[in-house]
Amino acid sequence: MNKIYFEELPSTNTYLKENYNKYKNQDIIIANKQTNGRGRFDRKWDSINDITISFLFKNNNYNHPIISSLAVFETLKSLGLNPKIKWPNDIFVDNKKISGILIESIFESNEKKCDIVGIGINMNKSLNYESSGILEYADVSRDYVIDLLINTYKRLLSCSEEYLRNEYINNSLLIGKVVRYKDEEYMVIGISHDFKIQLKNKRGIKEISCDEVKL
Ligand code: BTN
Repeated sequence: MNKIYFEELPSTNTYLKENYNKYKNQDIIIANKQTNGRGRFDRKWDSINDITISFLFKNNNYNHPIISSLAVFETLKSLGLNPKIKWPNDIFVDNKKISGILIESIFESNEKKCDIVGIGINMNKSLNYESSGILEYADVSRDYVIDLLINTYKRLLSCSEEYLRNEYINNSLLIGKVVRYKDEEYMVIGISHDFKIQLKNKRGIKEISCDEVKL
């Protein structure tokens, strides 16, 4: 995995989407400052001196939603933090978001060419919304965390699906909790094999593939 550093980019994901042909499988783009960063549901993710990093995976079949969440989870855990994974790809510490992940795929004539896994991790807590940052809990440099994250990702690429699923479920914030989804309350009863969240209330069981559930 080669690291390519930029002082400033609008978005590490957008940059890779536009330039993936110039890079090799498993190259990594890192920006010190991100000025037009993107999150899920068209949210913004701008940052300075936090971690904004995108991994390029060409012609692959890895389970990035699970691997990327666990890579951040295990990185933070080994720094002494107590993280939890909020389905699908958010990482929380002390009930506040510390990391978000945006996974995008590129298709050419209906064939998947590559996946871009963009990870944002706060070093500092954001002033704009309630979040947490690594520096509140651990005295570490950004470069140290980046290397730890990359090595953890690499290690997880060779783990079995069963290990990854169990780790994800065992460290999930939502399982067993009551959540709100489209103005109704549900109990979260599990995560399916195809990565849907399973919700139950007196009207029955629902599986949701990509949406937001609120605690
Ligand atoms: C979310 O929580 O909605 C996902 C946020 C993902 C942010 C990262 S930062 C690196 C990469 N580049 C982007 O523009 N977005 C992702």
